[in-house]
Amino acid sequence: MDGMRIVVLTGAGISAESGVPTFRDADGLWEGHRVEDVATPEGFARDPDRVQRFYDERRRALAAVEPNAAHRALARLEGALGDDVLVVTQNVDDLHERAGSVNLVHMHGELRRARCAACGARPAWEGDLVGRPACPACGRRELRPDVVWFGELPYELDRIESAVLACDAFAAIGTSGAVYPAAGYAALAAAFGARTMELNLLPTAADVPFDEVRAGPASVIVPRWVDDLLS
Ligand code: APR
Repeated sequence: MDGMRIVVLTGAGISAESGVPTFRDADGLWEGHRVEDVATPEGFARDPDRVQRFYDERRRALAAVEPNAAHRALARLEGALGDDVLVVTQNVDDLHERAGSVNLVHMHGELRRARCAACGARPAWEGDLVGRPACPACGRRELRPDVVWFGELPYELDRIESAVLACDAFAAIGTSGAVYPAAGYAALAAAFGARTMELNLLPTAADVPFDEVRAGPASVIVPRWVDDLLS
């Protein structure tokens, strides 16, 4: 195991058993809300309060959820292999951090941050944004959720891509592979010689077949996968 560089891409499925809704499963977030209304800059421009309320509600819900065994297993993997492990999450919840992951990139942003449209500051944020609070950095009242919407550039793409190109193993956990660039990372890793794995409730029809597929709930299959890696 020593020296093996692992990139783990996680999606909403890793947080499902913690009680955080996914997007595209039955009763997922995109069943109750139109993406164009709550996850695009145009939707925000059209009705900012509707968008702020959508993310305020999801931010508040974080207080009632806990990391599950899958999040904890990834933190254990990092504890054992250190900087050879990087978790790239599409999720905007804070469950990886709360489970102990440190080498972590939130490519779609974080519910627990706001972003100032005026000065670009990204302050940690707990409360609601719907009341147009002042930016702690510049004082203007142009804070929005620090979540990457459709049509916007995800965060830290260079760092992610160089890690994907350099890794020996790439695992996609709990993601439908519906959204790029995240959905293209498995094929990119494979093209550069990495062994690719998918851990998902149901095998997804990935554009490039994974070398290994483990099906089942993340809280069961991820700890087993980490045990196997560390054995
Ligand atoms: N264990 C493992 N996998 C699960 C579980 C579970 N308990 N429950 C659901 N899944 C899997 C589903 O099979 C599906 O493949 O998690 C995946 C959830 O897919 P999506 O809801 O599409 O979530 P995600 O892949 O993270 O979406 C990517 O789309 O809407 C945007 O920005 C949003 O980051 C999000 C991106």
